[in-house]
Amino acid sequence: MFTRTSSRNNGQNSCFAVYFVICFPVIKPRSGLTMSDSSLKPPASNKPLRPPQVVALSGSPGGLQLPVTAPQKLNSNSTNGNTSSASGSATGNPRNKCALKPGYSLMSWIRLCNSGADLSGTGGRTVPVSRSELALHNKVDDAWMAIRGRVFNVTRYMDFHPGGVDELMRGVGRDATQLFDEVHAWVNYPQLLGKCYIGPLKENAVKSTKDPVSPEITSAIPKPTEILPRFDWIQQRSELTLIFYTRSFANPGMVVRRQNSQQLEVRILIGQQWHTFDFQLTEKVEWPPKVAKMGAETGKIEVVLGKEEPAPWPIYGTHTTRKLDSNSIQEEHYDYQVIHREDFNHDSFELSLQSAERDRLMLLPVGYHINIEVPVDGELIHRSYTPVDHAYLSVDTNSDSISFLIKRYPNGPVSSHLHQLQVGSRVQLGPPRGGFLLSELNAHRNILLLAAGSGLTPILSLIQPILKRNTNRIETLHLYYFNKTSGDIWLKKKLEEMQTQDERFSCKHLLSQVEEKPERISLELLTSLFREKQPDRCTYVAICGPSGFNTAAVDILTQLGLKPNQMHVFRG
Ligand SMILES: Cc1cc2nc3c(=O)[nH]c(=O)nc-3n(C[C@H](O)[C@H](O)[C@H](O)COP(=O)(O)OP(=O)(O)OC[C@H]3O[C@@H](n4cnc5c(N)ncnc54)[C@H](O)[C@@H]3O)c2cc1C
Ligand code: HEM
Repeated sequence: MFTRTSSRNNGQNSCFAVYFVICFPVIKPRSGLTMSDSSLKPPASNKPLRPPQVVALSGSPGGLQLPVTAPQKLNSNSTNGNTSSASGSATGNPRNKCALKPGYSLMSWIRLCNSGADLSGTGGRTVPVSRSELALHNKVDDAWMAIRGRVFNVTRYMDFHPGGVDELMRGVGRDATQLFDEVHAWVNYPQLLGKCYIGPLKENAVKSTKDPVSPEITSAIPKPTEILPRFDWIQQRSELTLIFYTRSFANPGMVVRRQNSQQLEVRILIGQQWHTFDFQLTEKVEWPPKVAKMGAETGKIEVVLGKEEPAPWPIYGTHTTRKLDSNSIQEEHYDYQVIHREDFNHDSFELSLQSAERDRLMLLPVGYHINIEVPVDGELIHRSYTPVDHAYLSVDTNSDSISFLIKRYPNGPVSSHLHQLQVGSRVQLGPPRGGFLLSELNAHRNILLLAAGSGLTPILSLIQPILKRNTNRIETLHLYYFNKTSGDIWLKKKLEEMQTQDERFSCKHLLSQVEEKPERISLELLTSLFREKQPDRCTYVAICGPSGFNTAAVDILTQLGLKPNQMHVFRG
């Protein structure tokens, strides 16, 4: 059971190149560990071993993680020219890690993932795959692999695989869950292969999640401390309030579905785990709820429902709870219709949606997004969008509506399609998704937000929770907002108002297409915020923009001494 970790530790001079481990969204190590860290030493007690810990380069489910030591390890790997190391492996076999060819480092893979290249080969669509179809893709230049009921196109990953092409080929064209887990159950494949995802494995998708996994390996993987939402209720004569407590900064989300005037299904999302409460209420309530809100600092969700007949109730009713399979929820789509669409500036527009049956309400965790799916040339294509608080928009809508600010790209199929929708038009929305860890920001009192163009939307959702928090109160919050011209800037006035209201917040606009002093993201621009020993030195940065912008930002911040766990890049 402990062979793997002990052998890693023994092989101190071997090529411990890169660790991807299962990401624990709720309880997450604050800092990454190096190979000399005690968690990698042989166990002194019988406690289960922890896999090597990592720090987040991006916390989103599609985001990638790097160990603190990753760049050095990759370098040493490529310079010593070893093709394998001599230390043992998880299974007791000699380690079989390969030197990666130049240009196939982890960083290069991250860049490729962020380049917009179609790594799944499906053009952004999710396509269910049958076992017989899967079996056809078993060649090195056409390689699909199923892990836990999800099929990935690993063709482009071949040369990046630290275990080598031949090893990866052992799992292609089939359900490789067991093999994968036997070799390296801790590898965070959903993040690494996020952009390679094709779709669910059609038959036995659920069964495959229960595929037998080596008991030795599973028992060595620590289970994150799970947060179970706790339910409570209060009432007034005319209102019933359902309250869900999670944990401070747990950043929960919620989807409520009204089945009838006395039955509600409330799904609470914490990290990647969904919990469901099925309510049978004592009497009838109105829809939509009067209020649905989440306290970022408290981690408390409240849903205030109007009673059809105002009167005190003896009890709220009854409820049952159950956990849901997060993978299958990610495949769900909900029918929404347009209730408002209005141009916002020369190339962007506001879009407000409401569930078509008027039976659903979504509340997203801070920094999470939703996939909007539309038909284009007979195919369904989706893109990510981050809801924007109604306070930022011209429209005043109901608590069960969801609004977006969308930039239209003339050659962009989804944004162009959404732009021409009329009130009453239908679109499909996916459930909330993301991996942003609000709690990660708590240690930091001087924070920089970098947004480019429409990348403002996730960044916007962070501003108020950061400024309002009482725990380790923020000292400075800088927003650097990059656009081409001043006409492209979103919400300039609102951002100015926020500066006036709270002197800890400052917003700087940087324009790349102006005659006088065009400005882009650069080392010179950011240096002043990161000087050593400066009391208000920024220690955390959240980044959202086009992939080139994100990559440049991460490179510059790395040069300025920031570690991967001090940055979060929002990705789809
Ligand atoms: C987590 C996340 C949240 C997002 N939230 C929002 C949001 O709230 N509002 C919003 O408008 N968009 C948002 N986006 C971007 C959105 O998902 C789409 O990428 C965008 O709408 C373009 O889709 P498309 O199909 O129209 O064009 P695509 O086919 O994806 O792109 C067409 C062309 O447009 C250009 N392009 C596309 N995206 C960008 C970009 N971000 N910056 C510069 N050029 C680009 C490229 O030249 C590309 O070739 C978000 C993206 C992510 C990852
Ligand atoms: C199922 C077929 C696969 C096989 C047989 C396989 C085999 C291997 C082997 C033998 C190693 C070297 C292990 C060692 O260090 O001792 C390795 C490392 C690695 N593989 Fe795979 N692999 C498979 C699939 C994948 C997939 C799909 C991914 C992508 C997410 C992946 C990512 C990695 C990573 C990140 C490492 C380095 C892990 C570490 O340092 O411990 N592998 N693999």
